[in-house]
Amino acid sequence: MMALLIALILALTRLVASKAVFAHYMVGSMTSTEASQDITDAIAAGFDGFALNTHTISDTDTWNTDAITYLLDAASGTPFKMFLSFDMSWNLDVSGLGSFLAKFSNHSQYYTTSDGRPWVSTYSGGSSVSNDQWDTEFVQPLVAQGVKPYFVPDFDDWAGYPTGFFDSFPVVDGAFSWESAWPDSGVANVSDSVDESLIEQAHAVGKIYMMRPSPSPLHPFLVWAGSDWYRIGETNLPERIAQILSLQPDFVEVITWNDAGESHYIGNFWPEQIAGTSQGSYANGYNHSGWQQVIKPFIAAYKTGATDIAQIESRSGSPEGAMWYRPLLTSASCASTITNYQQAKDAVNFAVILPSSDTPYTIEVYSNNNLVGKFSGVEGLNYESVPGLQAGGGQSIRVLDGSGNVVKTANGTKDVLNESADASMCNWNYEVVGLS
Ligand SMILES: *[C@@H]1O[C@H](CO)[C@@H](O)[C@H](O)[C@H]1NC(C)=O
Ligand SMILES: *[C@@H]1O[C@H](CO)[C@@H](O)[C@H](O)[C@H]1NC(C)=O
Ligand SMILES: *[C@@H]1O[C@H](CO)[C@@H](O)[C@H](O)[C@H]1NC(C)=O
Ligand SMILES: *[C@@H]1O[C@H](CO)[C@@H](O)[C@H](O)[C@H]1NC(C)=O
Ligand SMILES: *[C@@H]1O[C@H](CO)[C@@H](O)[C@H](O)[C@H]1NC(C)=O
Repeated sequence: MMALLIALILALTRLVASKAVFAHYMVGSMTSTEASQDITDAIAAGFDGFALNTHTISDTDTWNTDAITYLLDAASGTPFKMFLSFDMSWNLDVSGLGSFLAKFSNHSQYYTTSDGRPWVSTYSGGSSVSNDQWDTEFVQPLVAQGVKPYFVPDFDDWAGYPTGFFDSFPVVDGAFSWESAWPDSGVANVSDSVDESLIEQAHAVGKIYMMRPSPSPLHPFLVWAGSDWYRIGETNLPERIAQILSLQPDFVEVITWNDAGESHYIGNFWPEQIAGTSQGSYANGYNHSGWQQVIKPFIAAYKTGATDIAQIESRSGSPEGAMWYRPLLTSASCASTITNYQQAKDAVNFAVILPSSDTPYTIEVYSNNNLVGKFSGVEGLNYESVPGLQAGGGQSIRVLDGSGNVVKTANGTKDVLNESADASMCNWNYEVVGLS
């Protein structure tokens, strides 16, 4: 009886939080105009907020504090909110995080729980910092000032993860996992077993779990960078979407809005943010906003409690979605410089949301103007990774209605090459095109 009562109270506590979907945002130097554009675009794409990945807490890095302020201010008057996500891979001083947070946590656009606790997250920090240190150096000093953070870190660098996570880290209010957004290297589909375990563990103790979808398991592939690697998962985004709908986590954070250094960005990245890096050489001109056409209907479905991709609805009443491919074949001689390149596939990939229809839609896939795949569509989200990507132009998908009329297309703007046109680079970033 007591156990039942406790379970009920825990369940009610959790219900206080309503589902929200964030995008991971790499804070970098920017203007207030660019900040406004990002907020406008992210709202239009269906997001509730950004997790602001901050790799410095130094007062002298005004580019950082300015950018955070621009973003928060730009959202004023909207329901869009943000929280800080401390990038602990930069060895930030734990005892300095609280005073940095306090600079922003009173802002009207800072994301809080319904009882006013400011959310805080991390990338990493589970192995370098102990539970006690988080508690005594970060949480308690803030509590002493009347600010009780709601702490939802990514501690998947902790050696025992995810077994017994909340016993080992009682300091947290919730968890999320970075690495589980992608498959392990090797030929495997992305797994949701870590997420499933943590959802179960979190709910058993009245805490929350935030799950992450990510469109692409790729890092960029620069010959000179020396640390480039590939992870299988051409259809990682729709696969994760299916897992999230089925597991119903409390929150979702899409990786990422603007990490131009890795190929999983779905929004704008700005020149100042990547100045002084080589990221522009492989990300400029590779516009990934087409993925937003897949994510927006997913967000709506997640919030209404859909548990299956068949329940994802087209928002416009006509087909929505995107196609994507890499404009350089895996047989290119530079490929062998990429770790795990053997797992890569030459494919045209798509994720298309179809409305209900008496006669089925058909999705046709072309490479080098040759039909390489043809699929009868079903209501909701359809996705495939279609092998047979060929060098040349004419990379496209067409969606035909039941009468055979082409109602939507996505035409690649980049030819597929046999060999890299730039000897210094093996660029496997995706060409992503939304349906129109
Ligand atoms: C921020 O919130 C804290 C805790 O409620 C309060 O003590 C402090 O005065 C506020 N600071 C500002 C600048 O409003
Ligand atoms: C991955 O999942 C797809 C179905 O979504 C299946 O066809 C394929 O065989 C799976 N791949 C592996 C390696 O398990
Ligand atoms: C990317 O494409 C979208 C949709 O066509 C467009 O609105 C946006 O301005 C483009 N971004 C860049 C940086 O070209
Ligand atoms: C790519 O290589 C194939 C096989 O060697 C060749 O037939 C084809 O013409 C090449 N295509 C381009 C666009 O270079
Ligand atoms: C894609 O290409 C086809 C064939 O050239 C054309 O009919 C269609 O209008 C194009 N779609 C878009 C969105 O430009």
